[in-house]
Amino acid sequence: MTELRRPTPLDPALHKRDQFDSGEPILDEWLRRYAGQNRRRDTAATWVIADTDDLIVAYASVAMTGIDRSAAPPDLVKGAPNPLPALLLGRLAVDKRYANLGIGTALTAHVLATAVELNEKAACRAVVVTAINQNARTWWQRLGFHPFYPDDPAELDLYLLTSEIEATLRKLR
Ligand SMILES: CC(C)(COP(=O)(O)OP(=O)(O)OC[C@H]1O[C@@H](n2cnc3c(N)ncnc32)[C@H](O)[C@@H]1OP(=O)(O)O)[C@@H](O)C(=O)NCCC(=O)NCCS
Repeated sequence: MTELRRPTPLDPALHKRDQFDSGEPILDEWLRRYAGQNRRRDTAATWVIADTDDLIVAYASVAMTGIDRSAAPPDLVKGAPNPLPALLLGRLAVDKRYANLGIGTALTAHVLATAVELNEKAACRAVVVTAINQNARTWWQRLGFHPFYPDDPAELDLYLLTSEIEATLRKLR
């Protein structure tokens, strides 16, 4: 396997994304067509893991968000304003050729560490994600994320409190 670089912000002039194939065409298309645009407009930041030829192997897009209290579970809402401040992990995808090597987990760990930093500087109560499907929901839960409504098997919105991140990162290491 080729050597991989540490997570870095997407550089559209450097990183090659044409061949990126996560098995989810919507996520591949977003990386190719919209990641740069979102960065220029300051609406989403995309972080990538690339190989030494600058081919993208995995990416995550993140943005600040506000969660409506009325749609959130009690431990997210307790003592928090409306909307409550959170970091949205909007998209995460790993190229199929690099699946199951811990790369998705490593990139998530990087985003969680970012949430801890943001929390110190500007307050961020949680990281939230919307799983792309039921399999992905299971994947997020394996990392410690909680579904907004655990009793609803179709629920795809999940969260991890920033106060839980340090313990989660310890388990992932
Ligand atoms: C889900 C995804 C990000 C996982 O990335 P990865 O680098 O392959 O995952 P890791 O190697 O870090 O983790 C591997 C573990 O996750 C499990 N796993 C991998 N893909 C999974 C999936 N789609 N659903 C459930 N579990 C999955 C593996 O069985 C393995 O478990 P184990 O450690 O108990 O053996 C990647 O498969 C992907 O990009 N899928 C398509 C897009 C997607 O579903 N994105 C999720 C965001 S909504």
